[in-house]
Amino acid sequence: MKLFDVYPINNITIVKAKGSYVWDNEGQQYLDMYGGHAVISIGHTHPHYVQRVTEQLNKIGFYSNSIKIPLQEELAEKLGKVSGKEDYQLFLCNSGAEANENALKLASFYNSRKKIVAFKKSFHGRTSLAVAATDNPNIVAPVNQTDNVVFLPFNDEAALEEYFAKHSNEISSVIIEGIQGVGGINVASVSFLQLIRKLCTEYNAVFIADSVQCGYGRSGKFFSHDHANVNADIYTMAKGMGNGFPVAGIIIAPHIQAKHFMLGTTFGGNHLACAAALAVLEVIEAERLMQNAESVGNYLMDELKNMPHLKNVRGKGLMIGFDVSEEIKDLKKNLLMNQHIFTGEAKPNVIRLLPSLALRKKDADEFLEAVKEEIEAMTENLKMAQ
Ligand SMILES: Cc1ncc(COP(=O)(O)O)c(C=O)c1O
Repeated sequence: MKLFDVYPINNITIVKAKGSYVWDNEGQQYLDMYGGHAVISIGHTHPHYVQRVTEQLNKIGFYSNSIKIPLQEELAEKLGKVSGKEDYQLFLCNSGAEANENALKLASFYNSRKKIVAFKKSFHGRTSLAVAATDNPNIVAPVNQTDNVVFLPFNDEAALEEYFAKHSNEISSVIIEGIQGVGGINVASVSFLQLIRKLCTEYNAVFIADSVQCGYGRSGKFFSHDHANVNADIYTMAKGMGNGFPVAGIIIAPHIQAKHFMLGTTFGGNHLACAAALAVLEVIEAERLMQNAESVGNYLMDELKNMPHLKNVRGKGLMIGFDVSEEIKDLKKNLLMNQHIFTGEAKPNVIRLLPSLALRKKDADEFLEAVKEEIEAMTENLKMAQ
C-alpha cells in the first residue's frame, strides 16, 4: 500500500529530538525554529513530559468517557489556573479542527442561529464547519460550501459594525485567531478584539477565540486575545497543548450550559492525553515559559528588524513572521539546506517562526547568525551575477 500523497515533504528523516534540536538518521543536527507547526511547546522529549506520559501508559492509556476520569478534572483545574479562566468549563477533543467544529456548533446550539462571521486569511481547520470558516477555497469541497459563513476584512472595524447593524439577529458566532498563523502572522488589533467583544455581548453572539496556533503561552500571554484584555465566550486550543501528543479542547464561559449528548468524542480526554496535557502545563508553569516566550521573542524581533532585506517583522512572543524581499526569496530553503534550521512559511514570501516556548537566547543567536550569513551569501551571489 502507498501513502495518500497529500503532503509536499522535505527529504529528511528525523529520528531523535531534544529541546529545540532534532537529528536525522545520518546524525545531522537541526535547530527547530518551527516546532513542527507550533506544536512543540515545552521542547522535544522534555524529561518531565516523558516521565509523566510513560508512567500513565504503564497504568492505563485509555478508557471511554462513560466512566469517571479524574485526570480530566485535574487538567481542567490546572488549565483554569494557568490560563486565568478559572470559571470556564472544559470539553476535550483531539485536534484543532475538531475544537473549532465543536465551538461553532456549540455557539449555534446556544443561540439557535446560523451565521458565522470569519475573517479574510483565516485558517480554522479542515472539517466541515471549520473549513467553511477558512478563507481558502482550494481546501473547501463542494459539500462544505455554505452561505452561513461570511468573510469580513481582518481588523476592519467599520466593516464589522456595518455587518452587525444589518444582520445582528442572525449572527451565531464570530471566530477569530488572535494572531493569524497560516494567513501569514497577522496580529488582531486590540481595538478590533474589543469591538468584537462589545458587539457579541450586545447582540448575544458567541465570541470564539481560535487559539489553536497562537494560544497556550506562545504570544507571551496564555491566550493571545488576552493582550486586548477581553474574555471570549469560547477558546479553542490544540497544537501546543500536548507537545506532540494529539490532544485539543475548548473552554466555555459559564453562561453557556452543557446538556448531555450535545457534544461528544470517543478518544477526547483519554487518560494518556490528559497526562500529556498536564505535563505540558506543569512545565509551562515551573519553567516560566510564557515569560521566556515574551523575552526571547522580543529579542528575536528586535534583532530581525535590524537585518537588511527582511521587511515587516511582526508577531508577539514566539509567534513571529517577516517578509523576505525578492533578492533573498530562497532564505527558507537555504536555512534548511545550508544551516540545518527548520522554519515555516506562509505565501507569498513570508517566513514564520514558531519554536518551542523554551527556546534559549543562545538558540536565538544561532538562528540570527545563520540568517545573517545566508542573506550575505545570497546578496553576494546576486552582485557577482550582475
Ligand atoms: C489557527 C488554527 N486553527 C485550527 C487549525 C487546525 O488544527 P488541526 O490541524 O489540529 O486540525 C490550525 C492548524 O494549523 C490553525 O493554525
